[in-house]
Amino acid sequence: MTNNIITFMRNRVSQPGLEAPAPSKAEWETILDAACRAPDHGGIKPWRFRIYEGAGLDKLGQVYWQHAKSEVHDLTEEKEAAFVKKAHRAPAILLVYAHIEQHPKVPAIEQIMATSAAAQQAILGLNALGYGAMWRSGPACFTQKTKDLLNLQETDQIVGLIYVGTPTSTPKIPEETDFASRLEWVTE
Ligand SMILES: Cc1cc2nc3c(=O)[nH]c(=O)nc-3n(C[C@H](O)[C@H](O)[C@H](O)COP(=O)(O)O)c2cc1C
Repeated sequence: MTNNIITFMRNRVSQPGLEAPAPSKAEWETILDAACRAPDHGGIKPWRFRIYEGAGLDKLGQVYWQHAKSEVHDLTEEKEAAFVKKAHRAPAILLVYAHIEQHPKVPAIEQIMATSAAAQQAILGLNALGYGAMWRSGPACFTQKTKDLLNLQETDQIVGLIYVGTPTSTPKIPEETDFASRLEWVTE
């Protein structure tokens, strides 16, 4: 059975090599509008998006640097440029985080999962418009220090930093998803 959307999803790959151009403002709006159609228990819309571009990437690089300094006390100042450079691996970075509210029926974990679904919808939207994306996170995303540096609330939860741009190379389509070994049928 073939279906264009399923083939597109099946062949999705992350793109670590990214260069300008990044999506235009209108393209971002289209992509994020679609991302906001992620499943959402209680209609909370817990997802929040923040786009870093241009000098904004230096600001994000400073967050990486300040966080590193707070964790590793003997980091020398010469390392600053290397940390700031990490935020320039793509022409745009989409921060996706959950703004969690207390809800009688929807625990925080569901709000985080909904936000992850929105992040994946954003990636598919980016790919649909010809852009490459690479979802990154890591332990630094889960510290209070990073939330402070990003001006997030204590209860917010970062889901990912999605690096976005034009792919620098043609991706290799994955041959094997290995879905069969992860699938069980329960029929009776
Ligand atoms: C929540 C999350 C966090 C991730 N963080 C990183 C990361 O920090 N660094 C990294 O190299 N890959 C990270 N990845 C994995 C990549 O986004 C990517 O999925 C992986 O390189 C495999 O490539 P593929 O998506 O083409 O299969 C993360 C993925 C998820 C879902």
